[in-house]
Amino acid sequence: ELSGRLLDPAGNGGTRGMIIAFPQPLRLPRGTEPGLRPAPNLFFYCSFALDCLLMSKTCAIIPAAGRGVRMGNAKPKQFLELSGRPILLHTLETFSRVDFLSGILLVVPKDFCSEAESLVSRYCADNLLRLCYLSKEELQERCSLHEDELCAPGAAPAGSWDGSRKFVTLTLGGTERQDSVFNALQALPGDCQWVLIHDGVRPFVSSILIENTWKAARKTGAAIAALPATDTVKRVRDARVGETLPRDEIWLVQTPQVFRKDILLTAYLEARRQGCSGTDDAFFVERLGLPVAVVPGERSNIKVTTQEDLVWGSFLLTQVGRQSDSADKVG
Ligand code: C5P
Repeated sequence: ELSGRLLDPAGNGGTRGMIIAFPQPLRLPRGTEPGLRPAPNLFFYCSFALDCLLMSKTCAIIPAAGRGVRMGNAKPKQFLELSGRPILLHTLETFSRVDFLSGILLVVPKDFCSEAESLVSRYCADNLLRLCYLSKEELQERCSLHEDELCAPGAAPAGSWDGSRKFVTLTLGGTERQDSVFNALQALPGDCQWVLIHDGVRPFVSSILIENTWKAARKTGAAIAALPATDTVKRVRDARVGETLPRDEIWLVQTPQVFRKDILLTAYLEARRQGCSGTDDAFFVERLGLPVAVVPGERSNIKVTTQEDLVWGSFLLTQVGRQSDSADKVG
C-alpha cells in the first residue's frame, strides 16, 4: 500500500523504487526475506523513509556564463565544438542521463542567450531533456532579477510538463562565476533540497562521479570531487619561489560539487554580505566552518580552458568512443 504512494527519487510523480527502513544495526531473524518483515516500530521507520524520499529532490546548476577570455576566442568556450558538437552539449548529454536529478538550471551569458536556447532546444527535440519556458513573471519572482537580466524565452504552455524528461531552464549569468551560481540558486524551485553544481566546460565528467559526489553529500551536507596533486606545488610571486607547499596536503578541486540547498544558500548570502570572492562553491561553505567531504575525482574530468585543452579534449573523446566500441564488442 505504501509503495503506491511513494514519489520517485527525482520527485517527478511516478514510482521508481522503494526505501525499506530497518533499525540500525540491521538485525533480521535467520531465514527472513529482507524487505518482507516490518520493522518493530513500523510507523517511525516508514515516516523516516518518506522523509528520505521527500528530501531527495536534487537540481543541477550548470554555470556556463563565462567569457572564455583565456581561450582567446570571440565565442565563449562552452559554445566551441569538440568533435562536431558544442562542449556544452557534451556536458548536458551526460546530465540528461542522471536519474536522481529532477531539473537543470543552465546559466548562460546574456548575449548568448538565444544561441543557448536554440542549441538546447535542438538537442532536446530527440533527447531526454526538455527546455522549460518559465514566464518572465515566474522567473522574476524566483530570482528577484530585473527585467533585462532575464532569459525567459516565453511562457510555459499549460500542461507542458511531462514526467519522463528533465527540464532545462535557462537563466542569466553574472560578472563572476559566483554571481552566476547565485542567480541560479535563487531561481531554483522551492521544493528542491539538494543542489549539484557542475561547470559547463567539464564535458567529460562520468555519471559515476556525479552519483558518488551526490551520495557523499547526502551523508555530510556537502561534497566535492578532487584529485591529489601529483606535481610539486610552490607559491610564486614575481617569478620567484616564495615557498613549497606540502604536496600530500594538496588536492586539485573539480566539479561536481553537491550541497544541501539551505547550507549553500546561507554560505553564499554570508559571502556576499562580507564581499568575499571564491572560485568554487565549497569555499563559501568552508568559511561557515561546515564539513565538506571529498570524493576521488577523475583525471579525464578536465576543465576546457585553453586552446590546448580543445586538442586534449578531442583526444579524450576518441578514447571514450573507443572504449564504448570495445565494450559493445565484448558485450
Ligand atoms: O572561469 P572558470 O574557469 O572558473 O569557469 C568555470 C565555469 O563557470 C565555466 O563553465 C564558466 O562558463 C562558468 N562561469 C559562469 N559565469 C561567469 C564566469 C564563469 O557561469 N561569470
